[in-house]
Amino acid sequence: MDNEADTFYRELPKVELHAHLNGSVSFQTIEKLIRRKPQLNIEHSMTAIGKGQRRTLDECFQVFKVIHQLVDSEEDIFMVATDVIKEFAADGVKYLELRSTPREETATGLTKRRYIETVIKAIQQCKKERVDIDVRFLVAIDRRNGSQVAMETVQLAEEFFLSSDGLVIGIDLSGDPTVGHGRDLLSALQRAKNSGLKLSLHLSEVPSQHDETDLLLDIPPDRIGHGTFLHPEMGGSQGLVDKVVQKNIPLGRTYFNISSLPLDNGQLFLWIFFSELCLTSNVKGQTVQCYAEHHFKYWYHMGHPIVICTDDKGVFATDLSQEYKMVATTFGLSREAVWKLSQQAIDYIFAPVSVKEQLKQKWRNLQPQEFK
Ligand code: IMP
Ligand code: ZN
Repeated sequence: MDNEADTFYRELPKVELHAHLNGSVSFQTIEKLIRRKPQLNIEHSMTAIGKGQRRTLDECFQVFKVIHQLVDSEEDIFMVATDVIKEFAADGVKYLELRSTPREETATGLTKRRYIETVIKAIQQCKKERVDIDVRFLVAIDRRNGSQVAMETVQLAEEFFLSSDGLVIGIDLSGDPTVGHGRDLLSALQRAKNSGLKLSLHLSEVPSQHDETDLLLDIPPDRIGHGTFLHPEMGGSQGLVDKVVQKNIPLGRTYFNISSLPLDNGQLFLWIFFSELCLTSNVKGQTVQCYAEHHFKYWYHMGHPIVICTDDKGVFATDLSQEYKMVATTFGLSREAVWKLSQQAIDYIFAPVSVKEQLKQKWRNLQPQEFK
């Protein structure tokens, strides 16, 4: 990125709400990891999907396994997390919610608890160095590991929710969407919700998940990751859309994270879910045919609250500035509309209102004169 347009997107203050730690590892950090572990014979082509390349979803999940081999100690996690945070900051991200699946590795003595502590340490280190970014952590449940591990993960997240001074704020549900069923994870997710942890769930990432999505939307989650096949035109159903877009809910009912639009009849049009959309990830992972066919077009034009995210900036060789630029060029958004999109994302963060206010002030300070 180097021309005037690229500078606009780089300098645009941004909020990143859907970033998997080990999927966000940059070329440069992978280089350092490869040097640390030459015996693994891992090459860059095994850890990232370059420009113009695509992979099946299954192949994408193989890439994560390779990266996990490279990142298997406290030292690795600390380096990866600090590098990733600084890279997001350098890309103009002012608020970041990182998510990651705690792992244990017998060879290095890594435990799930130490894993989370190390990510927290990295966040605190960046704070100490005055990196201009507010970072929070979502503990991820890998759906492949079943109900018991999901429950243990929630219990661990609850502990850190109470002891991390607001850094651990929620739960992510992710992992290979073709494996397992959300019904087995329901009680763990409900427990997390009841404890006050925020929930961001990968939903309808593949076409076969209609029933699961229907079930998990009832919890309800606070945000939806991808939601690719929710919309009827993507093979989903109007029933699911209706659940996401709770029309004409009587005034006076309170939900967390509500945004509202007045309707002609004076009632409020209330949205209780927010969607995290990751264009390059979906195109390179082949769940969406091309950028122009991305479900952004349905939700954005309905006025549904959406947030542009990277998912795995390292694996998919992108960054958040490029994702905003891609959205704008593909769907013809003006710079003012792009600014609004990045500003509205503040409403959907999981951190408390005081943080939202600070971010809103930051956006006001940085807002170009012509958008005021
Ligand atoms: P980690 O949790 O920091 O190790 O990040 C990599 C992990 O994130 C993968 O092993 C998956 O469980 C999850 N992940 C990354 N991208 C996706 C996605 O697009 N769909 C579902 N899960 C994902
Ligand atoms: Zn994801």
